[in-house]
Amino acid sequence: MFTEACCRLRKILLPTLSIALLFSSFAVVAHAQTSDTTLLVDIDHRAATSLDGDWHTIVDPYSTGLYNFHHEIKADGYFMNGTKAYNGEPLEYNFALSPTLKVPGDWNTQRRDLFYYEGVMWYEKDFKYSPKPNTHTFIHFGAANYRSHVWVNTKAVCEHEGGFTPFDCDVTGVVKDGDNFVVVAVDNTRSADGVPTLQTDWWNYGGLTRDVSLVDVPQQFIDDYDLHLSRANHDLIEGYVHVEGANPGTDVTVSIPELHATTHATVGTDDRADIKLPVKSLSLWSPDNPKLYKVNLASGSDHLEDEMGFRTIETRGTEILLNGKPIFLRGVSVHAEAPYRTGRAYSEKDVDTLLGWAKEMGCNYVRLAHYPHDQRMTRASDRLGILVWSEIPDYWALQFDNPAVLAKSKQQLGEMIRRDRDKASIILWSVANETPDTEARTKYLTTMANLTRQLDPTRLVTAALLVKTQKTATGSNKIVDDPLGQALDVIGTNEYIGWYEQKPAGADTTTWDIHYQKPVIMSEFGAAARAGHHGPATERWTEEYQADVYKHQIPMLNRIPQLRGTSAWVLMDFRSPMRTLPGLQDNFNRKGLISDQGEKKQAFFVLQKAYKDKTLGKAE
Ligand code: GCU
Repeated sequence: MFTEACCRLRKILLPTLSIALLFSSFAVVAHAQTSDTTLLVDIDHRAATSLDGDWHTIVDPYSTGLYNFHHEIKADGYFMNGTKAYNGEPLEYNFALSPTLKVPGDWNTQRRDLFYYEGVMWYEKDFKYSPKPNTHTFIHFGAANYRSHVWVNTKAVCEHEGGFTPFDCDVTGVVKDGDNFVVVAVDNTRSADGVPTLQTDWWNYGGLTRDVSLVDVPQQFIDDYDLHLSRANHDLIEGYVHVEGANPGTDVTVSIPELHATTHATVGTDDRADIKLPVKSLSLWSPDNPKLYKVNLASGSDHLEDEMGFRTIETRGTEILLNGKPIFLRGVSVHAEAPYRTGRAYSEKDVDTLLGWAKEMGCNYVRLAHYPHDQRMTRASDRLGILVWSEIPDYWALQFDNPAVLAKSKQQLGEMIRRDRDKASIILWSVANETPDTEARTKYLTTMANLTRQLDPTRLVTAALLVKTQKTATGSNKIVDDPLGQALDVIGTNEYIGWYEQKPAGADTTTWDIHYQKPVIMSEFGAAARAGHHGPATERWTEEYQADVYKHQIPMLNRIPQLRGTSAWVLMDFRSPMRTLPGLQDNFNRKGLISDQGEKKQAFFVLQKAYKDKTLGKAE
């Protein structure tokens, strides 16, 4: 509803703005949207002017800020940031007099009256700026859930759909010297053709949920690069650097001072320069040695200094090989729920707490469920030596027969890979979670798996699959034969023996029949407990029951010959509108090994012991 409105809005705005300016701004918008949704990479290493802080906001469930009473687009919508009508009377809105919300941050946990709000929220921020000559200026959004439309100084500059990936609005020529203002309409209304779709087992936290900043880059700027260690030659870093707006023959330099390694290359007609950087005595990145190097990239007047680790990841039969050696992924699934304060996690403090708990548990791996987390999470994983499964929210029952939905999945996949390609910690790109085994779904996700490999052939492709269960004379047999497995490098499977099926001891008499000779990660398993709720191990929701589930899971998991990783569900309790049982859930999914208030449940220590003693999984 909001999206098509803005397209119609442009038709309205055309007569009311100077065409030259509009076309330039539309050219800017077109540029922003045609080259790629995410134009800026390594954003946290670029100089930026933060727009974080208090923004004035207007709750707008009827989109009054856009439509008149005949549901026609207004030329004088809230994006005009007006105060007085033509007759000098006050308009029926006024950002300066309206309440503020903190950015970054979801609105649901900032105000009780917004806890369940699902709809349009208008944000407005005044800012002073002095655009530099011969530069592009972008407004960078770390993420905004779910649909966003952005205006600067009343000009429409960009729009974006997807709640967990960054996007950049080219505002060159729209931002002026001195006083400016930006208006953003964020609509978190779920839709059947969304990615994710209508049902999710997590809270639909809406708003400008991650950082917002202004970034200047030169006319020709580095907007994408891939630098990775060659699988065939550990003395060679290869890849490419893409320079937006570069003329063929433009020089690109890549250097790693600590290794005294430098290489030059020139941009071809595709704005890309292929890179071959020979290196000597490189220290390979791994969980035991999370070595990061300063990497300098330069082209023309643009230069970036990234911090990167170099390693290889591949499969050989049923083994996952890190730097050519088999590795077992001891892990846990993590939602981007902020410890203690709850709400959408984004801060350094949130990240340090969540990953600190994973390290304390003995993890060398985390599954960032079910969507790309804040970039701080993957940067920290690089620093801490935690391997990462990163996932787009192709979750449950998407409209797999709808080409427009496939386009959204592809867009979010591209944005996730573009942002995080430089993170050694990420070894797995996941294209889905628990999707129904239908022909349309398998076609859709096979396309996604192939696109993932095309965008990034240096990592592994996975997805979390549902498994079938058949009764046997002595217990049950789990069958993993989902046809999607043919498109994957690593098979993820979810199961909840002891919670959604059977008693905890059911795991003792469960066999596994996996129809793939590929590495398998048990991407979810576990049970719920309310922290501090104690009783016999036979009583559901007690910590003792949850711990008992884990005690029975471990020997069963060890009986799966292809098992190469586990990510228990879930590190910390997280909010979900699906979990309403008073006193035990209260809108939280309680399968956390730790409560949202940091209380470690007994099951945390069961899994911690198994990880630290390496009694779960193949010892390398
Ligand atoms: C599913 C799903 C999770 C969900 C979990 C649960 O496996 O992948 O997103 O939270 O089960 O039911 O707790």
